[in-house]
Amino acid sequence: MTQRDNSDTSFGFRTVEASEKAGLVRGVFDSVAGQYDLMNDLMSGGVHRIWKSTLLDRLAPQPGQILVDVAGGTGDVAIGFLKRANGRASSELKSPASAVICDINYEMLAAGIARSAAAPFASQLTRICGDAQSLPLEDGHADAYTIAFGIRNVTDIDAALREAYRVLRPGGHFVCLEFSHPITEGMQKAYDAYSFKVIPWLGEVVANDRASYQYLIESIRKFPGQEAFAARIRKVGFSRVSYENLTGGVAALHMAWRI
Ligand SMILES: C[S@@+](CC[C@H](N)C(=O)[O-])C[C@H]1O[C@@H](n2cnc3c(N)ncnc32)[C@H](O)[C@@H]1O
Repeated sequence: MTQRDNSDTSFGFRTVEASEKAGLVRGVFDSVAGQYDLMNDLMSGGVHRIWKSTLLDRLAPQPGQILVDVAGGTGDVAIGFLKRANGRASSELKSPASAVICDINYEMLAAGIARSAAAPFASQLTRICGDAQSLPLEDGHADAYTIAFGIRNVTDIDAALREAYRVLRPGGHFVCLEFSHPITEGMQKAYDAYSFKVIPWLGEVVANDRASYQYLIESIRKFPGQEAFAARIRKVGFSRVSYENLTGGVAALHMAWRI
């Protein structure tokens, strides 16, 4: 399914024209950028760190690799990748790993700069402002492609998946971390109660922005389930497509290879 510019799409629970969505999403992340890292910890009780650590376990970063972290925001995944791949002796490695964070939102990129400016891996990290649907990178550029909590914000998810395939070299690894669908009814109920009541309230109290956090939880509900999303990854040409539920399906890691 491809969303053309004049078709409708979802922005949370609202139906909007596809051409409007990127601007609305940009507004959300412009607004939350300054409090983004703090809010992630508060909303998830720190669990997002465990999920990202699992993503990095599955990626198994190695020196010499090139990562493209799309919708990379303030840089959790790219920074974690460089720390694991290069260790402390990053400047002494002959061919250290490198990472490119590509995010459509300048404010989110800027909010992460201070986190890496003085780090030993600073020279291996590049930030570029760009759209997941048309990455400003050449074919076969990367050994690994990651997108964490980003793809549900993209207007045309299939276009983003095609771009992931294009920028990976043959043998490259695709890993997507996204909120997903709890696997038991009890868990879904508890999760609904928590997320619809607590998260917008936290957004209002901490970030003075209830609407952006309301969008966040609504966009999670609109994202396809685990099997449906895996099928879309397969459809663009990826092989060995699999997924792993995290915290009972509250989030899921979707993995695949470009063979
Ligand atoms: C929830 S944040 C995730 C940030 C980071 N990956 C993390 O896990 O902490 C979603 C990010 O997706 C970015 N984004 C939204 N639409 C995008 C698009 N079409 N292309 C690239 N980035 C996009 C936003 O600017 C935002 O930084």
